[in-house]
Amino acid sequence: MTEERIIRPAKNVYGSLRLPGDKSISHRYGMLGAFAEGTSRFTNFSTGADCSSTLSCMEALGAKVRRLEDGSVAVTGVGGRVTPSDAPLDCGNSGSTMRMISGLLAPQRGSFTLVGDASLSRRPMERIQKPLEAMGARLTLTQGHAPLMIVGGRLRAIDYTMPVPSAQVKTCLLLAGLQTTGTTTVREAVRTRDHSELALQAFGAKLTRAADSVSIDGPQALHAIEAAVPGDISSAAFFLCAAALFAGSSLVLDSLGLNPTRASLLDALTALGARISVLNLEEKNAELVGTVRVSAPDEGLGSTTIDGALAAQLIDELPVLAAIGPYTRGGIRIRDAKELRVKESDRIALVVKNLRAMGADVTEFEDGLEAPGGQSLHGATIDSGGDHRIAMAFSVAALRAEGETLIQGAESVAISFPEFFNLLDGIAER
Ligand code: S3P
Repeated sequence: MTEERIIRPAKNVYGSLRLPGDKSISHRYGMLGAFAEGTSRFTNFSTGADCSSTLSCMEALGAKVRRLEDGSVAVTGVGGRVTPSDAPLDCGNSGSTMRMISGLLAPQRGSFTLVGDASLSRRPMERIQKPLEAMGARLTLTQGHAPLMIVGGRLRAIDYTMPVPSAQVKTCLLLAGLQTTGTTTVREAVRTRDHSELALQAFGAKLTRAADSVSIDGPQALHAIEAAVPGDISSAAFFLCAAALFAGSSLVLDSLGLNPTRASLLDALTALGARISVLNLEEKNAELVGTVRVSAPDEGLGSTTIDGALAAQLIDELPVLAAIGPYTRGGIRIRDAKELRVKESDRIALVVKNLRAMGADVTEFEDGLEAPGGQSLHGATIDSGGDHRIAMAFSVAALRAEGETLIQGAESVAISFPEFFNLLDGIAER
């Protein structure tokens, strides 16, 4: 069932928020807790449907999950040995669930079928098939996509250089390597988010990390942990960008995850002229957490180009950065971001289509787009394509548009951030 949401323009963005737990970290804590020995407990676990997909797959594999009254999640793990489930494991909309769980299951005894929704069933899965097969795994795809079948068994360690930067592929191989005799090494030209490395260490695994590689010696056992999940910086991105659009704005986000492999958005906003300060930095289970305050420059945002390694590091934040591009003085140019075309939707095509619907001049490239600055946009009907980040990015663009904007497929925000519209209403002054 699709829902529509009307977004009215705002005069300012003002307030102070604490956001639900990071989606990437919640996936990893949930999966590792469910695989470890003992009962883990996580506070501020992601409220998104994607992380529920991870938890329900792990429950189907024998883990026990309890949602406690105080909002925390208790996960009792299978102690390193899953129970094969007769029913297919439903990964929903979540690429992270499907790719990471494949690495966990490939060395296990039994056969497993992984399915996903229509969007996930279009996304490329050869990127995990190739290296897992090099480890000796038996994986069958459906024309390169899900449904995916795994016949688990003993694997051999490999040394693998990833052709495309992907934390999901890296994690898939580390989870397989965790259970495989010998040293599995994953090399990456661009450093992708390192939550798996930090989480594996927190659960007791030993890893060797270098600037461009990570190695794990298997087999190793994991033990349960207690952890607070930091606020999701990719969800915060929508509010940080909204605040950056209004002179006189002030937004404070506390307990926000600021892992350096995730926090490039703060650099991009600073390059655009936004005023950002970070306070109360601390480390929790090796993840950096802090308070971020943002306000907009009086003269408006400047311009920036995002390409190369930065494009890979900002991959989830690019839709909202592109969506505010026309409101800057000098525009936003994004290149080297071809991966955007194989996310929950073709995010380049949808950003371009929706910016044009709002009256913007925008150029599309195979690997990005350019939104010149100094433009005024008008409200329009936005096709989110059922993609949570498109729905949220254009809700932000709508705050500065002339007239109302209708977001189609608004229910998709629940994939990562069910509270989005309520919180946006609370900080948008009208
Ligand atoms: C994620 C990694 C990224 C990102 C996704 C979450 C993760 O995907 O886009 O939203 O949690 O590892 P890739 O690893 O495919 O780049």
